[in-house]
Amino acid sequence: MECLCVPKNEKAKNMPYQAETYSVTVDPQNPDPQVMALAGQVIVDGGLVAFPTETVYGLGANALSEAAVAHIFEAKQRPSNDPLIVHIETVAQLETVAIEIPSITQKLADAFWPGALTFILKKRPEIPANVTAGRDTVAVRLPAHLIAQRLIHKAGVPIAAPSSNLFSRPSPTTAYHVLADLDGHVDVILDGGSTQIGVESTIIDLTSEIPTVLRPGGVTLEALREHLPTVAFRPQHITEDDIAAAPGTLLKHYSPHATVKVFKGEEKAVYEAMRHEAATDIKQGKQVGILAQDNEALEFAKLDVQIVLIGKTSQAMAAALFAGMRALDNSKVDVILARAPQETGLGLALYDRLMRAAEGHIMEVG
Ligand code: TXA
Ligand code: MG
Repeated sequence: MECLCVPKNEKAKNMPYQAETYSVTVDPQNPDPQVMALAGQVIVDGGLVAFPTETVYGLGANALSEAAVAHIFEAKQRPSNDPLIVHIETVAQLETVAIEIPSITQKLADAFWPGALTFILKKRPEIPANVTAGRDTVAVRLPAHLIAQRLIHKAGVPIAAPSSNLFSRPSPTTAYHVLADLDGHVDVILDGGSTQIGVESTIIDLTSEIPTVLRPGGVTLEALREHLPTVAFRPQHITEDDIAAAPGTLLKHYSPHATVKVFKGEEKAVYEAMRHEAATDIKQGKQVGILAQDNEALEFAKLDVQIVLIGKTSQAMAAALFAGMRALDNSKVDVILARAPQETGLGLALYDRLMRAAEGHIMEVG
């Protein structure tokens, strides 16, 4: 009888990475050495481990293995032209990943590592091409989270890891978010609780003549300027058609399923515009959600909307933003309204993520 089965290599090409997902709770202050050793072995064996960092959860694989790294792209359904961040355990390990390291790197590492800052440097030839999407530069970060550090230590290799969400979904800040996106497509999830910062690392290109921030994140531009007054800021916001030109900067990134509308301008005028928009959407039969700061809920009290409070300070809002988007998605709203935060401090990263979730459509009012 004719075999209808798909040849093995064909199947591998079309199927996402499959695994029996094992989620384990790990104390972030005192990770169980046996659990960490097992997770490290999964990395060595070419598998995928989702782990907490101080920013968001990462989806890790052996950065020196092209086959292991390929699983990340399959599991996340991430386009192969979007490069990954390589995570290291010590500053000395930088030399195993990058070459021609400029002297400013050490200065910034002294100030911000371990932490939420990613350097773009010239890559070592040993780093497989799929990690860097064929580029001659590599993104490197030394995370502050103990579970991340122990995982890299036990694996004995640098770990390539993008955020541990399905491509273009909001980044995960809890193990539950990882499970919701990747159950059956990741071997181990190390559940270390909620991540502290909540938005991804700041990415700074150190290969350009003037060091340039490509993505605002957990380390603020103001803090960077204290150590590097000349730093340039050129966030890359582009549409789907341009993605080949500048990977990872896609506007439809960090998106919930709902349409996101962001309002910018004088506070009272913004609330008025948001109420008007909500009322119009409700009239059209849409379910409306609002990402509101703690003191803003009263502004929308008379409307039939779902409000998710995301705190008041930019730190609190960063920690709550992605979880808030996911919560509103889970309650099946069609539209999410939010007020644009101040573009200073951590607010710059918040603004960037909201703007991307809104696919660039910011409503200027007042
Ligand atoms: O906080 C974070 O950065 C988290 C944790 C897990 O470390 N990682 C993360 O990775 O958010 P993610 O999913 O944003 O992907 C890495 C991004 C790419 O989308 C791209 O924008 C940038 O890093 N990137 C990586 N390599 C690059 C390169 N060689 N040149 C320019 N940008 C690069
Ligand atoms: Mg990501």
